[in-house]
Amino acid sequence: ATITLSVMFAAYLLGSIPTAILVCHFMGIGDPRQQGSGNPGATNVLRVGSRSAALLTLTGDLSKGMLAVSISQWLGLDLFNQALVGISALIGHVWSIFLRFGGGKGVATMLGSCLILDYRLGLAQCAIWLSLLVIQRISSLAAVGMAVISPIICWQLTPQILLPMIMMCCLLLATHHQNIRKLLNGRESQL
Ligand code: G3P
Repeated sequence: ATITLSVMFAAYLLGSIPTAILVCHFMGIGDPRQQGSGNPGATNVLRVGSRSAALLTLTGDLSKGMLAVSISQWLGLDLFNQALVGISALIGHVWSIFLRFGGGKGVATMLGSCLILDYRLGLAQCAIWLSLLVIQRISSLAAVGMAVISPIICWQLTPQILLPMIMMCCLLLATHHQNIRKLLNGRESQL
């Protein structure tokens, strides 16, 4: 239990690293929280910055989840506890200790965690997210769709972590509440 809690805390700190803000700072784009949707995430970095900055942000945020869960695997935690570590990284991204408990919406960090928890699960989620993104060209719709479908895939592939998966998806839907409102009003911006 001590190891699990320590890794969860480390994952929280790792998840807290504000990739979008660092990338934008070093690429001279300014603070993504002050521009566009105000979200420090790859979508908004693409919106207010450049493709390369968005790709760097996406890669960094994916890596946070991947690294956190990988560490928990190297330390021999079971799949359920690995998922708790994934949740911790996600919580860090959303309520970052470095941003006075503000943060992003968590899509990339969650996908990164899931890819390492079970690559079939992660790949299926990435496929759904990417397909929705290509078809609809609305990032938040892709994220919301992926969050709604993920528990079903998880139930089929890795039922041991269904509960943590539902928690992650609920958190993702919560961080997208403004996007969901815009989607319902038909006011959400396309990529
Ligand atoms: O990953 C976040 C995305 O789903 C929505 O971002 O900037 O359009 O609110 P944004």
